[in-house]
Formats: sequence, C-alpha cells, structure tokens
Amino acid sequence: MQTIILASRNPGKIREILSLLAGLECRFVSLSDLPEIPEIAEDGSTFEENALLKARQIFGLTQTPALADDSGLEVGALDNRPGVRSARYAGENVSYDDNNKKLLGELARIPPRHRRARFRCVAAFVAPGVEHLTEGLCRGRIIESPRGYNGFGYDPLFVPDGYLQTFAELSSEIKNSISHRHHAFTAMAGYLKEYLETPRQPPSSQ
Ligand code: IMP
Repeated sequence: MQTIILASRNPGKIREILSLLAGLECRFVSLSDLPEIPEIAEDGSTFEENALLKARQIFGLTQTPALADDSGLEVGALDNRPGVRSARYAGENVSYDDNNKKLLGELARIPPRHRRARFRCVAAFVAPGVEHLTEGLCRGRIIESPRGYNGFGYDPLFVPDGYLQTFAELSSEIKNSISHRHHAFTAMAGYLKEYLETPRQPPSSQ
C-alpha cells in the first residue's frame, strides 16, 4: 500500500487532516513518526511557495510522496496582512494573544463593515513526476474584541460568514466542516483518490 508523509508535527492538525482524508487507500505517516527529519523553514512569500517548499523537501529527503500545507489569515483593510506571516505577525516566538493584540491595534480605526477577512489554506502534494496544489478559503470578518476559548490562533477574533459566533465559540465539528483546511483537503482528497487509483511503474532500480 502506498505511504504518504503528512508534513506536520502538530497533533491537532494531523487529526483534523487525517479525518478529511479518511477512506483513501493509503497509509499516512506524519513528521511526529519521523523525528530524523529536520524543521523546514517556511520562508516563502506565498502560501503556495511555503506548502510546496515543505512537500518538496520531505519528498527529496525520503523519496516518499509528501503532503504539506500552509495557512493564515488575510485581512482586506490591511492589504491581506498578516498572510504568510500569520504565525509571527507580532514578531518571532510570540503568543497567539500577542498576534491578536497586534491585529486589533492595526484595525482600531477600521469600522465593522470594513473588517472583512478570510482564512486561506494551500495544500501541496509532491510525488515522482507530480506536484499538485489545492486551495481552501473561509470568508468572514474580524470583531473588535476576542470571544471564545476553543481553537487556536486568530479564532477568537474571526466570525465566519453565516454565523454569529467566532471560530473560538463554535464547536470544533462546525469549524472543521467550514474551515479553509476543510476546503483545501477535501479538494486534495479528490485528487489523491484518482492518483492512488492510477497504475504506476515501480521506481526503476538502476
Ligand atoms: P500554519 O498553517 O499552521 O503554519 O498556520 C500559520 C498561522 O496561521 C497559525 O499560527 C495561526 O496564527 C494562523 N491560522 C491558520 N489556520 C488558523 C485557524 O484555523 N484558526 C486560527 N488561526 C489560524
């Protein structure tokens, strides 16, 4: 059975992604199972670059098909910042709370109707002769003070379209059924199903 390496060490993210890829005829291992693989710097300037960079490096190191993602928050009034810098918006090694405070500070003078935002996730699959990207978006708005305790990151500030609660007030079942990761990995699951069903030559042993 084909093995695919999931480029994450975050247990919550691994669980969420595996549930979105359930039913595929393959075996997933994550970087938590492969401690010898070094941390990969996410220094690309787009989500696409970062996701591809990770998947390419892991495939290069292991010669095993690899699946990676990158995600973050884009705020219209801030020219789509924090974007790829979502994890380190307020600086290196900062807390989610520091990033949320910085975001609220930058939006302090922006009225509610101009606080549109979206989460974006790009998933990248790299295998011999194959590079495939999928994207997922979740649109909503940024509120003026944090609400709720579930989730992580910008969840307490983000109200998805069609809901009154923030991502941090919604259950993880609801969040995971409408999130950017849900859309990116559901699309990737469709691609992987076809990929896995396509007969392939075994790698030549020269
Ligand atoms: P990564 O894809 O895990 O590298 O995510 C980068 C950063 O984007 C995280 O550290 C969060 O700040 C933000 N982010 C990505 N997805 C979410 C989400 O579902 N909720 C809240 N913040 C998120």
